[in-house]
Amino acid sequence: MKNLEIVKHPLIDHKISMIRKKETGNKEFRELVHELASIICYEATRETPTQAQAIQTPVEDSTGYFIAQKFAVVPILRAGVGMVDGIVKFFPAAKIGHIGLYRDPSTLNPVKYYVKLPSDINEREVFLVDPMVATGGSAIEAINILKENGAQKIKVLCLVSCPEGVEKIGKLHPDVKIYTAAHDEKGLNSKGYIVPGLGDAGDRIFGTQ
Ligand code: PRP
Ligand code: URA
Repeated sequence: MKNLEIVKHPLIDHKISMIRKKETGNKEFRELVHELASIICYEATRETPTQAQAIQTPVEDSTGYFIAQKFAVVPILRAGVGMVDGIVKFFPAAKIGHIGLYRDPSTLNPVKYYVKLPSDINEREVFLVDPMVATGGSAIEAINILKENGAQKIKVLCLVSCPEGVEKIGKLHPDVKIYTAAHDEKGLNSKGYIVPGLGDAGDRIFGTQ
């Protein structure tokens, strides 16, 4: 799958295993979502351009290399909110948009209830964040909304993906790369949950089970 980057790191193996465990409580779950989002962000910014600028260290003149890219971080509500702080800590000037979608439990289709995006989103690289890419319906709807609003460069950052969602996103939005901490080849169960996955990410972040 050309559109998928599975981020490999021992820290990811450890933290994704912790987050999958059903005994992991809401507080620890939230902390793990935050930490995993930061590690994924490292990989998603590997090719980010930098600009050389003269600096002075306490010892001598030197050259610094500074990020030359503006970012927007857009969580899909609710669960995506858990990833935002793990990313914006690297880019304090990033703007944050919100796209509110929930999956209709009977059809699994996304239902839109809120959209608020930065007005200059066309000048920014957009990190669309959501812990789960399951059927891919929510991510596809969010990418449609981002593109309708002018976004030109979009990456999806998630924690767990599966073949159904990744393939569907690749067909409809081949320009959008997906960065994930884990890709679960078993796919979806009859209720549309990723197997083995981690359950309902929003409920586990916000304690609403
Ligand atoms: C979950 C998850 C994704 C979506 C993924 O959200 O956070 O947004 O499902 O499923 P999909 O790929 O099949 O669309 P949910 O609809 O449960 O809403 P919530 O974040 O408010 O809990
Ligand atoms: N949404 C979740 O929160 N978990 C899944 O496994 C699938 C969709």
